Amino acid sequence: MSDALLKTEHLDGINDQKAALSRAVELLTSGEIVAFPTETVYGLGARVYDPVQIAKIFAAKQRPQDNPLIVHISSLEQIPDIVAQSHPKLERLVQHFFPGPLSLVMKRSQRVPSLVSAGLDSVAFRMPSHDLARALIEAVGEPLVAPSANRSGRPSPTKAEHVHKDLDGRIAAVLDGGSCTIGLESTVISLLEPQIRLLRPGSITQAQLEDVLGEKLVLSTSSDQDARHSPGMRHRHYAPSIPVVLVENLSTISDETKKRRLILSTEHIQGTLHGHILKDSNFYDELRWAEDHGYEEIAIFLTEDLEANTALFNRILKAASGV
Ligand code: TXA
Ligand code: MG
Repeated sequence: MSDALLKTEHLDGINDQKAALSRAVELLTSGEIVAFPTETVYGLGARVYDPVQIAKIFAAKQRPQDNPLIVHISSLEQIPDIVAQSHPKLERLVQHFFPGPLSLVMKRSQRVPSLVSAGLDSVAFRMPSHDLARALIEAVGEPLVAPSANRSGRPSPTKAEHVHKDLDGRIAAVLDGGSCTIGLESTVISLLEPQIRLLRPGSITQAQLEDVLGEKLVLSTSSDQDARHSPGMRHRHYAPSIPVVLVENLSTISDETKKRRLILSTEHIQGTLHGHILKDSNFYDELRWAEDHGYEEIAIFLTEDLEANTALFNRILKAASGV
């Protein structure tokens, strides 16, 4: 797809949910791709059984072809259509965490195009807890694949305006449902082997999962061996157009430098106009805010509670290292 082909429609799902939903359904069922809100981040949707429509997602995002997509369902009855495997812990996980920010990787059914999974014989799926997302999937009548609705490598979008900024002219519409409440992507775990493996940390924590499962998770690291399990983790991620640096001691930054840097911290920073409080829900928004407000750099002040927040700290390290 060449740049700026489409007029991207803004569908107001906050004030006129019915009209916005019906237009989004019309576009999706006629083969167009549409961004929609979830509780984690905005997703860019296409119908799961339409490879031509799915190919438009890769083109619009400029997403590497080897990075698989998550299938979003609105009902548990859709699981047997997309998954060709059982697992003794599936029912327990679904009972506790669906709908919500947990994605499960299992063996892919023949019905699901291999493009969804970048050629892997597995498929990731989740049921979003956002009402508008589930209403959209239900009205379309089949699951929607949806990566985060950003240009590949950029911070994930947590507001409709973030999607417009990255993808206007490249997608048919954005369904606006306001700000995403969680603001970080779902936790991804693999049920491909009897022992469950954590592929991407998210707001459902390792401890919560281990509690419900009654067993320890296998943890993935960024080694080549583990990239095999979660191919998306090796690509550049979450980076704004300005550098993100990590700072251990704020007193080393001069007042002059502070004016050019936005400082993000979990604590209130005394004596600076350029410090913002950092939370899961505003991290991506703050990265985009800083680049839009003329800052040259974003400094993140490392505190103990920040390093203990596995999901947020994982995204910060990726944004900072540009991998
Ligand atoms: O919260 C979320 O998960 C959001 C919203 C829109 O649902 N989606 C999202 O999608 O973050 P995306 O495409 O940005 O990230 C999907 C992640 C990637 O790391 C990818 O490698 C992994 O899920 N993934 C997808 N299918 C997989 C599979 N079959 N095996 C292993 N990892 C998979
Ligand atoms: Mg993404």
